[in-house]
Amino acid sequence: MFCGVGSCFSVRSRGLTTLVVSLVVLTFSCTRRVQGLPFPAPDFKNCNNTEGCCPPPYNGAPIQDFYVFDTTLPLRIRQPAHLLDDAYIAKYQRAYQLLRELPESDGRSWKYQAKLHCAYCDAAFYVPTDNRRLEIHFGWLFLAWHRFFLYFHERILAKLLDDDTFALPFWNWDNQSSDPPLANVLPYAFANKKYQNKSSSLYDVNRNECTKRPNIIDFQITLECVNQTATLKASLREANNRIMYTQMVTGAPIRRLFFGESYELGGVAGLGAGTLEAIPHGTVHFWTGNPKATPPFADMGIFRYSAYDPIFFAHHGNVDRLWELWKTLPGGNRKDITDPDYLNTEFLFYDENGNLVKVKISQALNAISTLR
Ligand code: C2O
Repeated sequence: MFCGVGSCFSVRSRGLTTLVVSLVVLTFSCTRRVQGLPFPAPDFKNCNNTEGCCPPPYNGAPIQDFYVFDTTLPLRIRQPAHLLDDAYIAKYQRAYQLLRELPESDGRSWKYQAKLHCAYCDAAFYVPTDNRRLEIHFGWLFLAWHRFFLYFHERILAKLLDDDTFALPFWNWDNQSSDPPLANVLPYAFANKKYQNKSSSLYDVNRNECTKRPNIIDFQITLECVNQTATLKASLREANNRIMYTQMVTGAPIRRLFFGESYELGGVAGLGAGTLEAIPHGTVHFWTGNPKATPPFADMGIFRYSAYDPIFFAHHGNVDRLWELWKTLPGGNRKDITDPDYLNTEFLFYDENGNLVKVKISQALNAISTLR
């Protein structure tokens, strides 16, 4: 279900590691084109999905507009998952424990967060005035939708922990350094003995056996789990670096290539993923999902199941960080999209209080970030 395989090229890694401060927000005004056709927020009642992805009936407070960012909240620092200390891993684990304990009918719950991803990406929400369904992958909605999803998910976890400093870690798979601790392996929080068992809230039953440490990540889809010799690891590192360089630098000098094809109300979904969405975003999903599961590649490699695995959010933390990073690369054309159809497209999410909030893409572009 995630986009296909590709072959690509060259280097960028180490220095891009560390901190991303994640604060997504604030408004942004834009001039509306007369012919603009942004998607309005989906109506959660106008949902049809045979896989059970539709959100629960919403009986909460009136839908709020997300227009004021709470500046009393502390900045949240997203740390690379391979550098988390034990105390942070314990907090991270506790956050998912609490999330899993919420009743399924709560829009913030672990299951409904996963279902929300499924609903937005698996042909569940009808588009108003159209019999087609909304799709947030394979086009320019991808990065912004997932930034919001992470933002609200992170705020839900913080609220459950009663700790506003909580931030999701990011899985720094683009870092191919061979110096320990390794970044391009399954992070400890998901893989060490303490956390890789059924009682851990960060455990997911459907992960590829090839993700077992000390195997390193492979940005190209391989269906077989091969023994990673030192020579093979060296060539995988080289190939991964080349892929990163192509997807971020040479292959994405302009917005359309990086963000993917445009997709507006009345338009056709899925005309083309941006470079980062296709690879390595898509291939890391595949690498993590279990090829022997039913259906093959569940959970991470199948849209409707992927957000059941908590690693989804660490994976997307890195995708989100790479979006910011791309804008810092030289060339002059690496900027956010300014088309009003894009900026005014709306989505609904559950906030940390369980209320539905309406967001516009323009509100996702002002992430405060430092990339070191
Ligand atoms: Cu909505 Cu990584 O996928």
